Amino acid sequence: MTPGRPGGLVIAHLSDLHLGAHDPDAVESVIADVAAVRPTLTVVTGDCTMRARVHQFRQARDLLDRLPAPLLVVLGNHDVPLVSGARFVAPYRRYRRLVHRDLDPVLRLPGLTALGLHSAPRWRWKSGRVTRRQGDAVVTVLGAAPAGSVRLLALHHPPRAPGLARVAGRDRLLRALAAGRVDLLLAGHTHVPASGLVRVAGTAHRLVEVVAGTATSGRTRGVGRSWTVIRVDERAIVVEERHQAGSGWAPGRTRCFPRRL
Ligand SMILES: [Fe+2]
Repeated sequence: MTPGRPGGLVIAHLSDLHLGAHDPDAVESVIADVAAVRPTLTVVTGDCTMRARVHQFRQARDLLDRLPAPLLVVLGNHDVPLVSGARFVAPYRRYRRLVHRDLDPVLRLPGLTALGLHSAPRWRWKSGRVTRRQGDAVVTVLGAAPAGSVRLLALHHPPRAPGLARVAGRDRLLRALAAGRVDLLLAGHTHVPASGLVRVAGTAHRLVEVVAGTATSGRTRGVGRSWTVIRVDERAIVVEERHQAGSGWAPGRTRCFPRRL
């Protein structure tokens, strides 16, 4: 069976939309490019807005409504107000009102169980954290997925980021990824697309980590705008980057990882 053919899953993974610092042409063209792959699930791993302003959340809402459903969205550090009192009094109110009321959403589809975690607490401006409760949720929600189904975890901060970007609670999360037998870990934050096989130390567990670039913002870190399509069947996980090219999008690097059931 070829990944992406009937019987397989197609996951569209976008990140760091940064509405408010976006390119309108990229917004229009990426919606069409995502729709063309007819995804089973569309995942957005945070930073929907540039500065968590209400009008930016409204622009983000409009974009999210135009992406193929079902949608799993998690909050990024840019979705928390930067310096206003709102950051400390009600840091997630705008996100919950205009994007999604659940900060740690769960989505169950035939052949796929997905969990999103919010990794941007109000007292960290850039780096992330995963709590004990969230680690437990990885084990209970994803560990209970039916045998053979794809177990997907999405969060904004890549857990293996080094230095100042290191995620607090990372070791706890990695243990939970093994205990919950997670197949796919989706993240963003860096604005640079990447993918790789993660080995969880002390266990036999392996999973595929995918970091999506920025799909629509001007903060391209010199690598341009991109999003990622992930095709999964019982044999393989195929990760294909899609890069903005002219007025459209073109295939970029593709990597194929064997799927161990
Ligand atoms: Fe970002």
